[in-house]
Amino acid sequence: MIDSNQPGFNILRLGYIEYQVTNLERSRDFYVDVIGLYETGRDANAVYLRAIEDREHHCVVLRRAPHPGIGHFAFKVASEADLDALAAKYRELGRPVRWFAPGERHAQGRTLLVQDPLDFPVAFYASMEPVEWLLQKYHLHRHGRPTRLDHVNVLTPDAQRGYDWYVGELGFRPAELTESAPPESRIWASWLYRKSTVHDIAVMTGKGPTVHHAGFSLMEPMGIIHACDALAGAGYADNIERGPARHGISNALFVYVRDPDGNRFELYTGDYLTTDRDAEPVRWLLDNPRRQTLWGPPPPRRWFEESMSVADIQTGRIIEPQDAQMRAIPKYVVD
Ligand SMILES: [Fe+2]
Repeated sequence: MIDSNQPGFNILRLGYIEYQVTNLERSRDFYVDVIGLYETGRDANAVYLRAIEDREHHCVVLRRAPHPGIGHFAFKVASEADLDALAAKYRELGRPVRWFAPGERHAQGRTLLVQDPLDFPVAFYASMEPVEWLLQKYHLHRHGRPTRLDHVNVLTPDAQRGYDWYVGELGFRPAELTESAPPESRIWASWLYRKSTVHDIAVMTGKGPTVHHAGFSLMEPMGIIHACDALAGAGYADNIERGPARHGISNALFVYVRDPDGNRFELYTGDYLTTDRDAEPVRWLLDNPRRQTLWGPPPPRRWFEESMSVADIQTGRIIEPQDAQMRAIPKYVVD
């Protein structure tokens, strides 16, 4: 198994995700008034949001677009030099690379945008304007009380290749793996981290490149219930897609939600620390239903079959997803 953790740059964590939305005000009201994120800024075509624990300007960008989807997701790195090292690495591979112009990305320092080898648009930045810490501003916490952006979950036709890229080339570590049965033992999905939690990114087998969801951490388990109550109260009960339930993988309590455009996110709490470098990844067999749902109702079919598109960073055109190279039979689905 590849486990190179000295790649010549230091990715710290997932930093933000850009959701494309067709009605900026409707989406802003949903994420702020119902989900409990906070608006930190806006310009003509975007609204910027942060969560309770954030110390910098945004973890979500809502960008006006003619169709839903993901503009890109971004990792924070430790230094400006890391940005240059990453740019050189992607250029060497012949991947499209561009720097956002100064000021083009609100509140962000120098920001690199690449189309990675899995065809995802991914950004890297080292600095962002600071904001007031809201952790102990309890009077401002609302509903599910989302504390931070925790992870992104992506679909790619060959998740083994995704694992090799993130672990072998970018220095991520595997917390948990789903594999086919021996003797094949091929990786079907991996939960990979840079910060010391279960993941910053999960790379799953599926029609891709597409993004399945972003996950937001909540302060405590009752946040899941308060979030569902707020969604139902505001007329969004049908946007609760899967859960509440508990994952086997990651051990987290969760609920999956669709925003007004159908973009998906997860509210998530209760995973564990992964600081020890000598801990072996937790391995799950693909046919074990407890990996995805330790307890709770089975997911609806659309949870398996629908995901968010990404675009070519040079042309802006949506990338046509390719079929998965390995099948997972969703045996435990309700139609
Ligand atoms: Fe997740």
